[in-house]
Amino acid sequence: MVEINDKYIEKKGATGSKTKEEPAPKNIVVANSIEESSEGIDIADRLKEEKILEADIEKKGDDLEIPIMIQIKNLSKWYGKHKVLKNINLSVKTGEVVVVIGASGSGKSTMLRCINFLEKAQKGIISIDGKEISVKSKKLHLIRQEVGMVFQHFNLFPHRTIMGNVIEGLVKVKGMSSHEAIERGKKMLDKVGMLEKADTYPSMISGGQQQRVAIARALAMEPKVMLFDEPTSALDPELVGDVLLVMKKLAKEGMTMIVVTHEMGFAREVADRVIFVDEGEVIEEGAPNIIFDNAQNPRTKEFLSKIL
Ligand SMILES: Nc1ncnc2c1ncn2[C@@H]1O[C@H](COP(=O)(O)OP(=O)(O)OP(=O)(O)O)[C@@H](O)[C@H]1O
Ligand SMILES: [Mg+2]
Repeated sequence: MVEINDKYIEKKGATGSKTKEEPAPKNIVVANSIEESSEGIDIADRLKEEKILEADIEKKGDDLEIPIMIQIKNLSKWYGKHKVLKNINLSVKTGEVVVVIGASGSGKSTMLRCINFLEKAQKGIISIDGKEISVKSKKLHLIRQEVGMVFQHFNLFPHRTIMGNVIEGLVKVKGMSSHEAIERGKKMLDKVGMLEKADTYPSMISGGQQQRVAIARALAMEPKVMLFDEPTSALDPELVGDVLLVMKKLAKEGMTMIVVTHEMGFAREVADRVIFVDEGEVIEEGAPNIIFDNAQNPRTKEFLSKIL
């Protein structure tokens, strides 16, 4: 818990808390009020004005919010006549970690795939870092580069080395020279603790290690957002921890993340917010302790009673 608080404070410090560290305007008002009172201006008025200014500064501090990284408005998706996403609205702030929970078939994967434009929703607007994209846009490939995604099944190319897998997108999509790509690939593999396996093949490493390579592959594209769809659910239990550790590290570094997972320990420790999806709708959301210990919606309660 301490880790999370620190993380949050760090993030706020980096973006939102600037005005709170800038008491200068307040001091200037005080100096002015003394100076001007000696010139005969009513000190009560000055103090009143000072109070208003102070309140204004406080308010500005609160208003100076962390910018929104992902904004989803009225997202709806049908498969044939089956409406699987029903008017989803969701904002995720820069550096925020949102964990998505919900029953099988509730639409969690579809939601992530729509955010990444792997699936086309029929209705809605998605913005990433202020760039608004209609689901009907023709420039979806551009936004897809901003959004990294890690799946339950890591889908590494079996005939390519670990490094080959990580640099594939850099060379083919970003047009990077192989030298430059390998340099970045090394950094990414190092980040997930897999650098020493760079020259081996996927079949020679464990599932957990493959998943860490898949994370490195996504990170190599320098996405602004990372989406994780049950990244540990296909892993043997003893391999889950290392993958979660990599994800925790990413969160701590300030990556904006949406994570579909039923790893409740991870959600409690790392998530800023948990959202519960039921039949294609976000029906409850809140801080992890609120959702896990004090959910209000009967459907959330019922779901949690089965998995906690
Ligand atoms: N390609 C598809 N064609 C038709 N229906 C689909 C397709 N993909 C998903 N669906 C349906 O959409 C609904 C939502 O599926 P989705 O995979 O998003 O659920 P989920 O919450 O991720 O479930 P799980 O926890 O099992 O992964 C389900 O009813 C599913 O059957
Ligand atoms: Mg799914």
